[in-house]
Amino acid sequence: MSAVAAESLSFEAVAPYIRGRFGKPYRYEPECESTQLMLHGSGLPEGATAATDHQTGGRGRMGRPWTAPPASSLLVSVMLHPPPERHLPELSLVAALAAAEAIEGATGLTAQIKWPNDVMLNRRKVAGILSELSEGTVIVGIGMNVNQARDALPSDTPTEAGSLRTLTGSTYDRAALLGSLLFRLERIYDGWRHGGLADLYGEIGARDFLRGRRITVDGEAATASQILRDGRLEIATDAHETRAIESGEVLFER
Ligand code: BTN
Repeated sequence: MSAVAAESLSFEAVAPYIRGRFGKPYRYEPECESTQLMLHGSGLPEGATAATDHQTGGRGRMGRPWTAPPASSLLVSVMLHPPPERHLPELSLVAALAAAEAIEGATGLTAQIKWPNDVMLNRRKVAGILSELSEGTVIVGIGMNVNQARDALPSDTPTEAGSLRTLTGSTYDRAALLGSLLFRLERIYDGWRHGGLADLYGEIGARDFLRGRRITVDGEAATASQILRDGRLEIATDAHETRAIESGEVLFER
């Protein structure tokens, strides 16, 4: 990956890196409220992608904001039309795996998945996934911290944030990184579409950040066992109960 920072995620900058059906059509705004809203109710086909260089109302999970200085990160949403038999919450893991692989391709470092939707590099959160259901379609939003300097990262997040730059000392071509992310997302999503999470489980399990860690789940103390083959997180609570959880806010001890 080149060490040159791309100026924008405009169609002209990103088009040379679009290799499959994800990224087509490609909608770009230099600034918008949220790329999720650029796709909401659009009726666009699967793979349609919205990207921007700056969000004024970026949305994170649990109603939190998602912020990044202009032209520093990846802010992208992709339209998916998953088959009805699939279990939609698994899509966050599908997108997290794609983001982890794209980060690994760029940095040469192993990225991990913090269930259910975060991507970690050296114990810092470098990417987050927001999956929103809208009229039978799912809009998957991915925010990836790429070229932010340390003082440009949010400091009030439950999981400490990092960027590829703060963790590797290099800056990255965001357009090329976005092309790599879309290509990997398409391949992994197609695998999930046909075979569910089972086919991807090896790749996800190998990157399970929480495995064996002391955690709290919505305030309850536990030890994380593993991500299960059905996408749930197995935990052993301090009250000696083994449970598989479907969703929740997981905090870990540093
Ligand atoms: C999280 O970790 O809380 C999820 C963050 C998701 C942020 C991305 S940035 C692109 C897309 N547009 C949004 O408003 N949110 C998602």
